[in-house]
Amino acid sequence: MSKSSQLFPVPQSFGQKAQINKASYEELYRESVTDPEGFWGKQAEELLLWKKPWSKVLTWDFKTPTIRWFEGGKINLSENCLDRHLASRADKAAIIWEGNEPGETRTVTYRELHAQVCKTAALLRSLGVKKGDRVAIYLPMIPEAAVAMLACARIGAIHTVVFAGFSAEALRDRINDCGCSLLITANEGLRGPKAIPLKETCNEAVAECPTIKKVLVVRRTDAATPMEPTRDLWYHEALAKLPADADGRAESMDSEDPLFILYTSGSTGKPKGVLHTTAGYLLHVTLTHRAVFDIKEDDVYMCAADVGWVTGHSYVVYGPLSNGATTVIFESLPTYPDAGRYWDVVDRHSVTIFYTAPTAIRALVKEGDAWVKKYDRSSLRLLGTVGEPINPDAWLWYHAVVGDSRCPIVDTWWQTETGGVLISPLPGATATKPGSATLPLFGVQPVLVDDDGKEIVGNGVSGRLCMKFPWPGMMRTVYGDHERFRQTYFSMYPGLYFTGDGCRRDEDGYYWITGRVDDVLNVAGHRLGTAEVESAIVRSGLVAEAAVVGIPHEIKGQGIGAFCVLRENVAKDAATTKGILHTVREVISPIAAPDAIWFVSGLPKTRSGKIMRRILRKVGEGEFESVGDVSTLADPAVVSEIVATVKGAPLLQK
Ligand code: WTA
Repeated sequence: MSKSSQLFPVPQSFGQKAQINKASYEELYRESVTDPEGFWGKQAEELLLWKKPWSKVLTWDFKTPTIRWFEGGKINLSENCLDRHLASRADKAAIIWEGNEPGETRTVTYRELHAQVCKTAALLRSLGVKKGDRVAIYLPMIPEAAVAMLACARIGAIHTVVFAGFSAEALRDRINDCGCSLLITANEGLRGPKAIPLKETCNEAVAECPTIKKVLVVRRTDAATPMEPTRDLWYHEALAKLPADADGRAESMDSEDPLFILYTSGSTGKPKGVLHTTAGYLLHVTLTHRAVFDIKEDDVYMCAADVGWVTGHSYVVYGPLSNGATTVIFESLPTYPDAGRYWDVVDRHSVTIFYTAPTAIRALVKEGDAWVKKYDRSSLRLLGTVGEPINPDAWLWYHAVVGDSRCPIVDTWWQTETGGVLISPLPGATATKPGSATLPLFGVQPVLVDDDGKEIVGNGVSGRLCMKFPWPGMMRTVYGDHERFRQTYFSMYPGLYFTGDGCRRDEDGYYWITGRVDDVLNVAGHRLGTAEVESAIVRSGLVAEAAVVGIPHEIKGQGIGAFCVLRENVAKDAATTKGILHTVREVISPIAAPDAIWFVSGLPKTRSGKIMRRILRKVGEGEFESVGDVSTLADPAVVSEIVATVKGAPLLQK
């Protein structure tokens, strides 16, 4: 039997105590697809606190496209995450923060978090931020990041969190795309041995952001931080000046009022602003967090993702807090100060549920088992992964070494666009297979289609993954560009939402995500568009034309290979490589820096001038003998040059 078809049954001891077992999953799933409105209406009533009930559960069509959940309802997300827990959980830890240095920790109870969010909400109001205004958040992984998000939600402002590893330019473009009036940042961030000058980056960005009126600065370090007196405010000072009766009330929001915008990469153009709304999103993350992680009252739950990504939104902040759970916010790196850091954190905070990305697991596999074994880890009962396909070897290591063959693994498939998990095992219900995200969650109706959009039925088949019915957490539009929303997700296969992923459904009906079938790269779990990286490379002024492909990478899963045609009189040397890397880091972020740069004299193009990416992908993957038909190329000779160049060049960084 091959490794990947090994079946791991639900451990008996886990299954007995789990909230959902196989029979209840099957029954609930059946109900959720035969009577979606009945199912979701019941969940919304049981799981959320409403200010006013809805009049209609769902209105939808995938043509225009229109998706509305719980219309007529009034709700506030921050009340659901905070106020409603005060009666029974006021002194329970809402957040356990583990800072950059081991042992630098802070615990924030529900009472304290509620008070802090109310004050911050009042502060935002006093700065003129109103319902519907956009607020940019550019913060490290500190409790204030969650506070800022919740404070926006409390007053109905729409937040857009920008990953604090993004460059000034990337930050500027996001702020300008949605016209933010306020930016919340920190003076510095700390990541392992490095201090990140966040405020400086903000100064650079905001210089070209006409809509920004104020910059609120959290003091994370003692570093000297020049402030622009008319624009910048220290967060702690502004809070201290707030009158005692300042208005931190929770705004009454419509179910479909926007909650946040999160920028993500697509196959074309600039990153798009994925817009999520209030009630449906909240219901989706509440239910999935509860079911997928089998959340119990005394769990200490840790998701190692950054709030700059959707996983941080849904499964560090909103899902856990809505469920009244204790969520760990981790500021540091898995390998700082050494490769035992995660397990040190697990032991010190008695973490019971641990959720991370395959790229982190692969990096730790390489460091050896001793770093894991050094720690006790007996508090752990459940492990999770997200962000990219997990290779069976990494899965088996995670299971045997980290989880001592005792903890189930939930491999959760979803996207920025889906808001929350759509395909995943339920740990008390689903036998797992290493590398498979297994089965759809409640209400999720996946279909596989062939290239022509015809549904492929039955098991033991492969195709492109689509969804034929909406779920409450799905995105509602691309901010400011509804037509792009329609084009990107609903035009390829009319009547269906297209995920961009390839997928196999095996003999048991289990789903295996095989990766993107469009021009989106998934580098160490981060999404990047090839077009985005290519235009950054050209911005160096050294390159006339570039084509970027995903290449196999031991740790990142996918790395970036860049074929570059240099401009006249530019030398094919290390200085040019350096110049290109520098530009990409500045224009996007270090995460977008290519792992290989190949200088070539031309790209393989059809006679009509279209780059044949298929060929470049094959060569990048090292499949030199099987590049396929090159007869339609304008100049077939470029292929042999490209092959020779790639053969001779190692990766820039491991
Ligand atoms: C990939 C991250 C396989 C997939 C939550 C998807 C996965 C893209 C998995 C979305 C998984 C995410 N198995 N592939 N468990 N989870 N992906 O928007 O290609 O950053 O389309 O959302 O990541 O990435 P995004």
